[in-house]
Amino acid sequence: MEVTVAKSAGFCFGVKRAVDMVYEEAKKNTKVYTLGPIIHNEQVVQDLESKGVQVLHSIDELKEEKDAVVIIRSHGITKQMQDALEKKEISIVDATCPFVKKIHNIVHEKWNEGYEIIVVGSAKHPEVQGICGWCDNCCSVIETLEEAQKYTQKEPKKICIVAQTTFNYKKFEDIVDILLKKSYDILVMNTICNATEVRQTEAGTIARNSDAMIVIGGKHSSNTQKLYEICKKECLNTHFIQTLDDLDLNLFQSFRSVGITAGASTPNNIIKEVQSYVRHEQ
Ligand code: F3S
Repeated sequence: MEVTVAKSAGFCFGVKRAVDMVYEEAKKNTKVYTLGPIIHNEQVVQDLESKGVQVLHSIDELKEEKDAVVIIRSHGITKQMQDALEKKEISIVDATCPFVKKIHNIVHEKWNEGYEIIVVGSAKHPEVQGICGWCDNCCSVIETLEEAQKYTQKEPKKICIVAQTTFNYKKFEDIVDILLKKSYDILVMNTICNATEVRQTEAGTIARNSDAMIVIGGKHSSNTQKLYEICKKECLNTHFIQTLDDLDLNLFQSFRSVGITAGASTPNNIIKEVQSYVRHEQ
């Protein structure tokens, strides 16, 4: 049987970098904390816990301990949080994804230059909350076309628009179009990261060319659900599994080609496990 694993399956560059940084710190230090879970994957968080890494839910939980290290996850944090951390006697390891950091820098710089800031994204998402903290939360967050239509400026200022890295590009364009029609003086910075789009496009292509497709990811992961939908459209024999335990190989016996992809929070070892099982059990 021919087995094709998507190159873009699993962690994106920023998440892989952050997870690797935590494992590195856990090797070197005994007191390692992450501000929030480093990734939405219980197995990885538990594995890190077994290596002494503790998850903090707020900076207030952080005791000032010499030799302790606190790691900022790939979503990034607000400037206020960063300043509060720097005041503590503790080492900071910044695993903010460089693409998110770039947005912090744009927002901070343009806000200081007197621009009004609009963040296109979800106000509830930690990445967006972090971004807003780089202009003292003086920005507007717009997620829907209706919100864009209702938007009015408080003061006549130039506007700088940025986007949450995982925002849908088409929707971003539509929101920007609505705002441009209001004749404001707008600087648009497309800060969308293409990791998600690359993963989805590759998954669709592999599914189209395979007899069966396996999508690996958490059952509550919306990006894995989306991958499943894309693959199912291209290949009726698409199966959603969380780990190797969910895989019923009898379903694949008669197929000549099987494709494998995985959501953004799926660690490489699970992908490898599934891949070698499918290869060797035939
Ligand atoms: Fe990942 Fe960074 Fe893009 S965390 S989705 S590579 S912005």
